[in-house]
Amino acid sequence: MTALDFAPLLAPGLPPPAVKWPGFAKYNFIGGHIDADHVPVEKLLKAANDVLAREGTTLATYGLASGPQGYRRLREFLVQKLKRAAGISCNTDEILITSGSLQALDLVNGVLLARGDTVIIERESYQGALSRLTRLGVNAVGIPLDGDGMRMDALATALDDLKHRGIRPKYIYTIPTVQNPTGTILSEARRLELLRLAEQHGVPIFEDDCYSDLTWDGRRPPALHALSQHGGVIHIGSFSKSVAPALRVGYIVADWSLLSRMLAIKTDAGSGALEQMVLGEFCPAHFDAHVPELTPSLRKKVETLMDALNEQFGTAAEFDDPKGGISLWVKLPDEVDTLKLFQPARAAGVAINPGPEWTTDKAYGKSRMRLCFANPSHEAIRAGVAALAEVCRREFGVPNRIANVEKARA
Ligand SMILES: Cc1ncc(COP(=O)(O)O)c(C=O)c1O
Repeated sequence: MTALDFAPLLAPGLPPPAVKWPGFAKYNFIGGHIDADHVPVEKLLKAANDVLAREGTTLATYGLASGPQGYRRLREFLVQKLKRAAGISCNTDEILITSGSLQALDLVNGVLLARGDTVIIERESYQGALSRLTRLGVNAVGIPLDGDGMRMDALATALDDLKHRGIRPKYIYTIPTVQNPTGTILSEARRLELLRLAEQHGVPIFEDDCYSDLTWDGRRPPALHALSQHGGVIHIGSFSKSVAPALRVGYIVADWSLLSRMLAIKTDAGSGALEQMVLGEFCPAHFDAHVPELTPSLRKKVETLMDALNEQFGTAAEFDDPKGGISLWVKLPDEVDTLKLFQPARAAGVAINPGPEWTTDKAYGKSRMRLCFANPSHEAIRAGVAALAEVCRREFGVPNRIANVEKARA
């Protein structure tokens, strides 16, 4: 029997096929995973047990007894949490629970973007946001960052420039609170300036707060959504980095007029109910105590990573100490091409994110890479960086031996 050939039947315009999962790399610096020790297993078990015992029969209906916007108790928790932590005033009708905040990205893009549109985005940004824009045929204008986040002078210039060309960007996408991948936090003064510029040009802001719970000092400026006077901010967030990414629970905060359009294209008849119920039970009791327990050990891990880079790469690796989160953005010498480093590093057991996939400016990203530090152990971080330095030296001649602290000590 010959197998049916599906190739001629495939819809036009599909992205390239996925590759089969090769398993995790031995030294895994990618994927945005969290520390396995941080998953509150016992409390999640109890929450699952309690909520199912009490409300398990509501699984009989799509959307539980809460309707299509998601489990009501979880939305009620979010109303409280967003007010307390980020200063956002909203009600449960202005929250839509999604299957991870990746679905939130899809829904926001789905209601706002068409092929040929232009958006503004930080020059370094989340690969999942950038790849979506590419796939949609949307032009992404990158704005450089410095230590205080997106540079407002550059934003003002870009907005003026687009205006002169008759282009009104569909949104300004920003990860203002622990930016991915740079680890910066947009200062409060810049937040106000961003809001002013956005209002002046009639451009919405798309605020992605994925990492905002993970600042080293537990403090954060108010969300852009909270500071906005005129409702032009769509806010999304996630439980992936604070509780667990495999749960796949995120959310959108937006005015009902917009949320109702997103709900109309959310065709999955509701995001998975069990994880929403478990979070709705776990969070009111434990979230506030849980989150501060995460950051001290993440901080220790990034210190191990920075130490290891200094030791193995010496001055060949440049980076700024991030203000929180789970990743470090690293600059290697100009001759290094991290897209070309990727394969031999993977063959040596080290997985890295090549810089060009994390920026609108591929040439700028060429010698940069993103390293996630939350999931590997301290030992794996040290051994992985040593292995990476070996591969980099073999492939590109840097770091050279002179910068090697080991040798300098000997
Ligand atoms: C900035 C940013 N936004 C959104 C996401 C999507 O996360 P999730 O779908 O797990 O909520 C990520 C994941 O790493 C991210 O870094």
